[in-house]
Amino acid sequence: MIKMEQLYEGKAKKVFATENPEMYIVEYKDDATAFNGLKKGTIAGKGVINNKMSNFLMQKLEEAGVPTHYVEEISDRETIVKKVSIVPLEVIIRNISAGSFAKRYGVEEGIVFEQPTIEFSYKNDDLGDPLINDYHAIALKAATREEIELITKYAFAVNDFLKAYMKKLGIDLVDFKLEFGKLSDGTIVLADEISPDTCRFWDENTHEKLDKDRFRRDLGGVEDAYNEVMRRLMGE
Ligand code: TMP
Ligand code: ASP
Repeated sequence: MIKMEQLYEGKAKKVFATENPEMYIVEYKDDATAFNGLKKGTIAGKGVINNKMSNFLMQKLEEAGVPTHYVEEISDRETIVKKVSIVPLEVIIRNISAGSFAKRYGVEEGIVFEQPTIEFSYKNDDLGDPLINDYHAIALKAATREEIELITKYAFAVNDFLKAYMKKLGIDLVDFKLEFGKLSDGTIVLADEISPDTCRFWDENTHEKLDKDRFRRDLGGVEDAYNEVMRRLMGE
């Protein structure tokens, strides 16, 4: 597949057109941002890890019945994906209190929930991705009721799979963010990435953070954390 013009550059990835109008190539960067781009940095090797990890997990999720944008990994940092238009909602599932949940409700981090939670943010950098409910998302035409119901079903299916999979590696899945896209025929598929940039992973014994919170909170050992998750997941 030929990489053609760059269509988009995001905070962590670039998207390129290909000669196939239904396919894109994504290229993962080592750039890291936090707090809506206010904090900027580099995590050496992150692009390679996120590319490989996300592809590995998306293939497993396909097997578990969740359709994804994944097509083929073509290099350490590059993957062919199905062309989608991104549904402008960040879908966040939580199993354990942390981050903005702990802050918003004034509770400590680390409370294990009896049931996972779901919430949506409206993808809009100028507004700082505000929290949104289903009625508002429908009013804004971000998605239809049916699309939100399907996205919710897929997001909980991702949680069931990923939580169990990470547990076998000695990792607690605290929370994560998903994005979905629509193919040209309207089919909803899981898109974007699943990586330590978009998930909170805690070691089940030490509760050490093995994700981007090490960068967000200046905890040090950022690269080591990404490498450790990669090693446990893929033996690399
Ligand atoms: P939060 O606690 O800051 O709302 O984050 C919840 C989860 O979503 C966490 O695993 C990190 C992930 N996340 C992203 O992937 N992108 C973002 O822009 C934000 C704010 C969070
Ligand atoms: N990458 C996101 C940003 O810069 C935030 C985050 O992951 O914390 O907005």
